[in-house]
Amino acid sequence: MNNLNDKTTDRTLQKNLEVKGLSVCYGLVSALEAINLNIQAGQIVSVIGPNGAGKSTLLNTLMGLLPANQGTVRWCGEYLTSLSIDERVGLGVSLVPEKRELFTSLTVEDNLLLGGYSKISLGRVKSQAKMDEIFCLFPRLLERRKQLAGTLSGGERQMLAIGRALMSEPKLLMLDEPSLGLAPRVTKEVLKVIASLRDTGVAILLIEQNARAALQVSDYAYLIENGRITLEGHSSVLINNPKIINTYLGLSKSVA
Ligand SMILES: Nc1ncnc2c1ncn2[C@@H]1O[C@H](COP(=O)(O)OP(=O)(O)O)[C@@H](O)[C@H]1O
Ligand SMILES: [Mg+2]
Repeated sequence: MNNLNDKTTDRTLQKNLEVKGLSVCYGLVSALEAINLNIQAGQIVSVIGPNGAGKSTLLNTLMGLLPANQGTVRWCGEYLTSLSIDERVGLGVSLVPEKRELFTSLTVEDNLLLGGYSKISLGRVKSQAKMDEIFCLFPRLLERRKQLAGTLSGGERQMLAIGRALMSEPKLLMLDEPSLGLAPRVTKEVLKVIASLRDTGVAILLIEQNARAALQVSDYAYLIENGRITLEGHSSVLINNPKIINTYLGLSKSVA
């Protein structure tokens, strides 16, 4: 009994993600080496870095789509490493993948109702209430609720992909390059919603190639290069770091 109580207290106190010494290989080729990373509830943490650095590999490993070779991942005190994708979803972990995998021949509404990876059924009344919340966040989806997902614009697809992840009421929301292919104005709109989710206490892990957008919206950031963390710090400090400015901020546009 005591143990159970201890665990409950432990979970309430530690609403955080703790990654320690995480290494991932594709066959014999190393993609991530000894990654250490932390996120608290109500915080946006971004991971920036060039194409091929290992950013998607990190998210896919945290979601359970790829196995880790070494290291530990704890979410709210629970070790995730040996858990299935469904079990991770059950603990509130959710991923919006880079490819925004939607059911293109289904409507916006049906995509939302089917949820992300989740096999958890919310029930009809709760699903409707959740969908209404998502339509409040993204009024454009409300206007297009009967439209087929395959006919949406890039920005609307991204909104739907995020909305779908939110249907499973995530506590840890991971987003793989949400700004990819979006016009600056739409990127700004999507990031504004992501920032508003932070205020609801969700822990957000944001992967971005658009370093400026990521640093503007996040609290803390990690730079990954060649599978290793080469720099980390508060986003407001990193945005003024000469290496970041010279290498990663030169070409990206401001979304402020
Ligand atoms: N399925 C795969 N099999 C083998 N190598 C892969 C696979 N997916 C990614 N890689 C390699 O792992 C490295 C990291 O890729 P990725 O995580 O997609 O980088 P990023 O998301 O930062 O662009 C790259 O060198 C890439 O070529
Ligand atoms: Mg990627």
